[in-house]
Amino acid sequence: MAINRPVGIIGGTGLTKLSELEILSKEADRNRWGEPSDALVKGVLGEQPVVFLARHGNPHRIPPHRVNYRANLQALYDAGVRTVVGVNAVGGIHPAMGPAHVVIPHQLIDYTWGRASTFFEDDLEEVTHIDFTHPYDHDGRTLLIESAEALGLEFSDFGVYGATQGPRLETAAEIRRLEQDGCDLVGMTGMPEAVLAAELGMRYVCLGLVVNWAAGKSDHIITMDEIEAAIEQGMTGVKHILERSMAK
Ligand code: HPA
Repeated sequence: MAINRPVGIIGGTGLTKLSELEILSKEADRNRWGEPSDALVKGVLGEQPVVFLARHGNPHRIPPHRVNYRANLQALYDAGVRTVVGVNAVGGIHPAMGPAHVVIPHQLIDYTWGRASTFFEDDLEEVTHIDFTHPYDHDGRTLLIESAEALGLEFSDFGVYGATQGPRLETAAEIRRLEQDGCDLVGMTGMPEAVLAAELGMRYVCLGLVVNWAAGKSDHIITMDEIEAAIEQGMTGVKHILERSMAK
């Protein structure tokens, strides 16, 4: 991903800052869609210019359904970003996707509702329907996959991401329905982030870290302790993938 334009990294739960980033500036950046979740942190990762944004703010305080996704994507776009890596904490549905597993999904299904999920709704000269057949950028995914392979990490190079509304976790029956629909992982922030990036013509990839078995996929209920332990165990690998993919 070594390109002149900065790469945007949107950090999710467990990734409110990137300590490896050599920070050059921190800018609060209101735009026509409102206030992004936090100031944009501009810096260099290896030799790659990067703009980092904490999706839930720093400290972590904005719930998934309240994130101003439009302001976030617009702010990154205005900062010159055309390639975005969205880092997402997710629940695992597929049997291979247990806690601390890394997933680079290839498809998504959107179950969210009531979120501002398009830039194209007011003051239009014509109705716009963007193509969204492949929500995740092929070349970006390849880079992440090659990096994870080179690092010898346990990861999956496929996965259908089911985006749910939250902030509550799902019922066991909801997870069974997602599974029947073909979902391999479940998270609350994958949409509308991916589609808004697409509407702006940006390349978007998702780098998922499984932080719990989805509801009903283990013999216990989901606890914050379990989630925090998986973040602790898996986030270093996620950061290494980011660093390595930026160095290419
Ligand atoms: N469901 C939805 N979102 C999530 C989960 C989950 O189990 N874990 C982390 N984000």
